[in-house]
Amino acid sequence: MTTPAPKPEVLLLQRIADVGIERLETHFDVIHLWDSPDPDRDMQYHAETARGVLTGANIGLTPQQVDRFHKLEIISLHGVGLDRVDIDHAKHQGLRIAYTPDVLTADVADMGFGLMMSTLRRLPQGHNFVMAGHWAEGKQPPLTRSLTGKRLGILGLGRIGQAIAARAEAFGMEITYTNRSRRTDVPYAYEPDLQRLADWCDVLMVAAASSPDMQALVDDSVLAALGSEGVIVNVGRGVLIDEDALITRLERGELLGAGLDVFANEPHINDALLTLDNVVLSAHRASATVETRNAMAIQSVEHLQQHFAGSKPTHLATP
Ligand code: DGY
Repeated sequence: MTTPAPKPEVLLLQRIADVGIERLETHFDVIHLWDSPDPDRDMQYHAETARGVLTGANIGLTPQQVDRFHKLEIISLHGVGLDRVDIDHAKHQGLRIAYTPDVLTADVADMGFGLMMSTLRRLPQGHNFVMAGHWAEGKQPPLTRSLTGKRLGILGLGRIGQAIAARAEAFGMEITYTNRSRRTDVPYAYEPDLQRLADWCDVLMVAAASSPDMQALVDDSVLAALGSEGVIVNVGRGVLIDEDALITRLERGELLGAGLDVFANEPHINDALLTLDNVVLSAHRASATVETRNAMAIQSVEHLQQHFAGSKPTHLATP
């Protein structure tokens, strides 16, 4: 009788949905590091044996961490952002990086749209007003702004940007986008210059992926161009916006409002944001629905299964 081959060892750095954990444990020898008080130390302990790492897109794995492993073959990202891994370094090490781009598109677009709607219509402020009993006292909250007919500028017309554009079309918004390059497969106007786009639009929707050359791309001059009636929404990455400049302009009323799901230094957000009345804040939850987190968990495990079965994972960031 032959003994079955040992299951590949996989380190789990982020808690994923139960449906994913069950599947992971069926196929792999899983080392749970997501609740470790010192994941870095524990990673070192498994550096000689681990063949796969499953980690959150906003956690990633640094090149220094990658270099400690002796047998690592694949990093499976639970999420779409690639800003917490070094693709060139991984390629150089012959490592695969898989990610989960499609399954979260609709939910992230919904969050972007929801933040835009909430910021223009001041939904949380209205909720707080009612909860505080002010309506019952005979008071009225201030008027809000319409969404229909507004001009939407989208920074980053990838999968998520396009899904936001489709939603905005249904609300009668005018759409123009900026992107690394003009797309030939979309019906929207292209504006290569971000400042001109900000000058044109009422709402600037940041839906781009982040890369080192894009830090603080939305700088003070872009925010100035957006103007005191302008709204900014961010479902990309916090570092894409100069957060200090944003806060200053919000404090001075030089912007109408901001709807933010992502921040420069999560989860420690700038205290000044917490004092503002013209913001709607969310805790990086754009893909955090039961449906999407189940799908992301399953897909990130499937990518490991595909790899260790000798085939190519469906979504690879590395060739
Ligand atoms: C993603 O998928 O990149 C989300 O933003 C979580 O990091």
